[in-house]
Amino acid sequence: MTAPARRKLFVTNALPYANGPLHLGHLVGYIQADVWVRFQRMQGHEVTYVCADDAHGTPIMLAAEKAGVAPETFIAGIKTGHEQDFAAFHIAFDHYHSTHSEENRVLSERIYAALEKGGYIATREIEQAYDPVKGMFLPDRYIKGICPNCGTPDQYGDNCENCSATYSARELKEPFSVLSGVAPEWRPSEHYFFTLSKLQAAVESWLARAEVHSSVKAKLNEWIEAGLKDWDISRDAPYFGFEIPGKPGKYFYVWLDAPIGYFASLLAHLGGDQAGLEAIIGADSTAEMWHFIGKDIVNFHGLFWPAMLRGSGLRKPTGISVNGYLTVDGAKMSKSRGTFIKARTYLDVGLNPEYLRYYFAAKLGPGVVDIDLNLEDFVARVNSDLVGKYVNIASRCAGFITKLFGGRLADSMGTFAPPSDWQTQGWTNNYEEREFGAVIRDAMMLADRENERLQRVAPWKLANDDSPEARTKLHQICTAALDTFRVISILLKPILPNTVAEAEKFLNCAPLTWACINQPLLGHTINDYQPLLTRVDRPTVQKMVEASKEDLAPSAKSAPSSNSAPAKGGEAKTATAADAPRLPPHPPSPSTTSPRSNCASPASKTRNPWKAPTSC
Ligand code: 2FM
Ligand code: ZN
Repeated sequence: MTAPARRKLFVTNALPYANGPLHLGHLVGYIQADVWVRFQRMQGHEVTYVCADDAHGTPIMLAAEKAGVAPETFIAGIKTGHEQDFAAFHIAFDHYHSTHSEENRVLSERIYAALEKGGYIATREIEQAYDPVKGMFLPDRYIKGICPNCGTPDQYGDNCENCSATYSARELKEPFSVLSGVAPEWRPSEHYFFTLSKLQAAVESWLARAEVHSSVKAKLNEWIEAGLKDWDISRDAPYFGFEIPGKPGKYFYVWLDAPIGYFASLLAHLGGDQAGLEAIIGADSTAEMWHFIGKDIVNFHGLFWPAMLRGSGLRKPTGISVNGYLTVDGAKMSKSRGTFIKARTYLDVGLNPEYLRYYFAAKLGPGVVDIDLNLEDFVARVNSDLVGKYVNIASRCAGFITKLFGGRLADSMGTFAPPSDWQTQGWTNNYEEREFGAVIRDAMMLADRENERLQRVAPWKLANDDSPEARTKLHQICTAALDTFRVISILLKPILPNTVAEAEKFLNCAPLTWACINQPLLGHTINDYQPLLTRVDRPTVQKMVEASKEDLAPSAKSAPSSNSAPAKGGEAKTATAADAPRLPPHPPSPSTTSPRSNCASPASKTRNPWKAPTSC
């Protein structure tokens, strides 16, 4: 088999907001991308994998104000926490940056200037809700009032949680600012729009070729067919972000500079090497560019971002991988039930981060599917698969090799050798297509087969017979079983990097790669076996749930809180003093005179995960 050509890949994960700690819902997409990146590297491909904190916008500005610190100080603290959590879960970015960085300012200004030069920026005066007490324009999510459709009070300025109607903040009855409680005024302001409509054909033709799951493509095409509306990409001061050059008091909307943050992180990783950056982001780039995102931000990555890239003369994404939400025990993550679990809480109770990587990978595929972390099933699966099947092979055989054969594997596996080379193409394809569940099924099938064979051959019985024939047989079966263990380790290495690094120490071998699958370690001396993994117990999981429980006192209607917006994959309403405020599933866009019903927004009775292009 000829080795595939060495690909050059630039891979990104959605940038988490710098407004609070990571929770398990966040980790789904990061684990998915990290596993894929590790697999690509094991294949010998060249991968640059970056991320950054998404540091701009009104919610972060207000969170810093509430914390009594400058936004720069606030986001620095959050970034440190994010980086520590990512490292603990073995999410191995080549670089982790911030959108509030000089690289991002320069790149955002460059892309904006190119869009302006290309005739893709229009100026329009809009009317927007203004809080006269706070002295600032209000995003829709900072206005509440009575739903114009069903009359339910205390509804946000963009949609009703009771009847799911979408509307403009101006249509709300008895509106009030969630920041001051006063009625907003409607004031005119000049805004800058990215004329997406002019790039509709370009986005459509890019999408036809892009590697995007069919369900996501269908949704994007639906929006395209409905017609792309121009997108408001400016915000008025006070705003935490980048001021638009030459436009005092006007800032780039957070979603303008957020994806540019991918490039900023890359540039920082390259130590400022402009030529290296252009080789990846330039229109002639031969590198692949892959974005791993959640399903709530498909519009930004599948419409706005490729249009921005096209409009500014840069390359467009090769592929977009979209993950669903996480539920815990079959329901939305809930603070009162203790299932809104922070990454740090999981770690603090002593759970192995690789167990979560394994569990998520087992449920991950290329489709946009919500995955459920069933805590009973989590315990059962980890104990059964990883402890009971995978490492069990090594722990059953290693002692015989050490004690009876001086730690040396046999020169031949004799009749226990696999009949031919391991057939790796299916495994490779499954990883490539992000069918991680299938990879794990294959790995566990190998483990089952090996454990069954060990059960049949019973090395522990053979060890009682010290005849040369029995000794040879014992040596060969243990060597063959450890070879299966080695192959499973290769297969699981992208998912369990730390455990497999320990397995490599035990096997006393060079780092395992895809290319060495068919190279058994015959005649090779291994090290003493140390337990690689331990069982998870239910009380530890329960401890995590208890530690995640928060007492949610009902908040007074007249004391609206900026942290009452839904978190991605989380519950809709929460408010605790300890929490940094959280963002709505997508950053708020300002109320404008254009009613949202002008957008290609699908009407739905339930919360629609596919965020329609909020370009109005
Ligand atoms: O939805 C979010 O959490 C955003 N912070 C994702 C940004 S991804 C990229 F475009 F920057
Ligand atoms: Zn309603």
